[in-house]
Amino acid sequence: MEEKKWSELWLKYTEKEKRGNDKLIQGVYLKGFDASDAVVKSALEEWTAGLKGMYGMEPAMEENPNAGVLSLIRKADGRIRKEGYELLEQDGCLQLLAGDEKGLLYGVFHLLRLISMEKDLRGISLLCNPDNPLRMLNHWDNMDGSIERGYSGNSFFFEQDRVIVDGRTRDYARLAASVGINGVVINNVNVKQAATYLITDRYFAEMKAMAEIFAEYGIKLYLSLNYAATMELGGLDSADPLDPGVIAWWEKKMKEVFERIPNLGGFLVKADSEGRPGPFTYGRTQADGANMLADIVKPYGGIIIWRCFVYNCTQDWRDYKTDRARAGYDNFIKMDGDYHDNVILQIKNGPMDFQIREPISPLLGGLKKTNQMLEVQVAQEYTGHQIDVCYLIPMFKEILDFKTYCGGDLDTVADVISGRTMGNANAGIAAVCNTGNDFCWTGSELAAANFYGFGRLAFRTSLSAEEILEEWIRMSVSNEAEVVETIEKIMLPSRETYEKYTSPLGIGWMVTPHVHYGCSVDGYEYSRWGTYHRADHLGIGVDRSDKGTGYALQYYEPNASMYNKMESCPEELLLFFHHVPYTYVLKSNKTLIQHIYDSHFEGVEEVEEMIRLWESLQGKVDTGVYENVRRRFGMQLSNAKEWRDQVNSYFYRKSGIADERGRVIY
Ligand code: GCU
Repeated sequence: MEEKKWSELWLKYTEKEKRGNDKLIQGVYLKGFDASDAVVKSALEEWTAGLKGMYGMEPAMEENPNAGVLSLIRKADGRIRKEGYELLEQDGCLQLLAGDEKGLLYGVFHLLRLISMEKDLRGISLLCNPDNPLRMLNHWDNMDGSIERGYSGNSFFFEQDRVIVDGRTRDYARLAASVGINGVVINNVNVKQAATYLITDRYFAEMKAMAEIFAEYGIKLYLSLNYAATMELGGLDSADPLDPGVIAWWEKKMKEVFERIPNLGGFLVKADSEGRPGPFTYGRTQADGANMLADIVKPYGGIIIWRCFVYNCTQDWRDYKTDRARAGYDNFIKMDGDYHDNVILQIKNGPMDFQIREPISPLLGGLKKTNQMLEVQVAQEYTGHQIDVCYLIPMFKEILDFKTYCGGDLDTVADVISGRTMGNANAGIAAVCNTGNDFCWTGSELAAANFYGFGRLAFRTSLSAEEILEEWIRMSVSNEAEVVETIEKIMLPSRETYEKYTSPLGIGWMVTPHVHYGCSVDGYEYSRWGTYHRADHLGIGVDRSDKGTGYALQYYEPNASMYNKMESCPEELLLFFHHVPYTYVLKSNKTLIQHIYDSHFEGVEEVEEMIRLWESLQGKVDTGVYENVRRRFGMQLSNAKEWRDQVNSYFYRKSGIADERGRVIY
């Protein structure tokens, strides 16, 4: 067999300790499912491949559900919900019960996960229903093969304006399905160059082929759309959502698209943002724009996912009357309830842009009558470019657990986006993905934990960051206790470490403009004069209280009052909400300036400790993995030192206050 040019990641089916499990799975019995169904076939093939690789077994299909045989049984009894499954073992009979084909596939992947982790299947009793109806990956891949914010090589979907459908497409679908992903957007939200729009005859054959492969793994294909396609592609002179000519063009186009790509799930739209066209141009609302497309795709079962990352990037954000953080809420809250059923608003987790620490967007739960999806970023755009280690699942947990106070008991972000709060089915979570065509898919092998973890968390939001990490290490790296513990020690605190040596207490940015890696304290994207941190010789931070931009008041009580007052504002977000004197004393009894100095020294020390820990694994993990990660650690350490020195010297010069501990500040 030809050797693959890419890693199997957590689907590495290498030899494992059997622990008696083999006696339970000598054969396979199938009841209520059609063995020729594409998803069932995938499940059976995966089971066969997994057992062959891990146990050297080739279980045959059986006629009866005897002891020693894995029984795959269709059962929908109200407890096992859509895409859910149950695993049960009693008296030597192992059963996987599922209500539908996708549940069956996810259940098989669960069993393989347990086998890969060398867990005992005896006595198992687990009911797993997905928490979020939509669990999506958004790829920002461009048609030329580059990836916007990609840190792992080029696209494996596109190359030189061509679509690639090959063995890697299937392996990608397997990886995504194995963690419960059921929707994928393959192209960048910034859709440019009409000649390469995927909704034309030029690409239909490949799109159909890709959608079919995805469908075999229970995944729907979605595409990003250019809102002005009527003009760019259709030659019309308008993209006004209320213009009959525009509507007619889209009706014809969508008919063609859904006929040619029958499995298509729908579209993701970035409108009126960062140079993208949108309904604002015509004096129309975001709802006008989204509803027009939604009505047209509805007969085909399509949905429109409309992004809320709408802000005027050319505005002068130094002015206290305008605040970029306010923009999402201000632009969307007014039309709560106006969006049609098959529109979902996709909201970034924070009001700015995927910083290492931000408050939760007040739109999440702020909207009470509108379908919502949470958007997080697994690609490490502002969090270390997959060079610096930054395990993001603890951050995602914080976001999901945030209590919005939108009313009732079901008011966390997890409740809102799962559909529990409003009883809606069009809801869920999406992540900007971190994959590319390099051997290990994610630049650093350790960054794959974020891809894995996002999927697992999207499926079951109650899983802990620790559980998810352990699963990922055992499946991808090793089951050896020492290796598992060491990698946990490196990764679990890595988000805090990254935060310590970069921007403090929620202020964000201070990063090289546009590149978003490396320190530039005053770096400001949109004008020559602004800063995101508003530091002067007395203090730092943005006043977003009622006396400043008023952003804090976009939350429901008691969150609004909590953020509004400096004393009650959570300290990790202090500088996001307030302009604070350097001499302000924090709960730690340190002054703000001393906190900045100390945390930056600590951040670098923690990276040095991470490196020591990683080096202790030499010879205990795959050599290629060891070397790649070790090399990146070298880069992370330089990055951390540069941040430490720039930030500390900047604030020393600005404040004129020396480090209490007399350390050298350059
Ligand atoms: C960020 C990112 C852009 C991206 C944008 C978006 O601003 O830097 O590359 O296009 O987010 O989410 O649309």
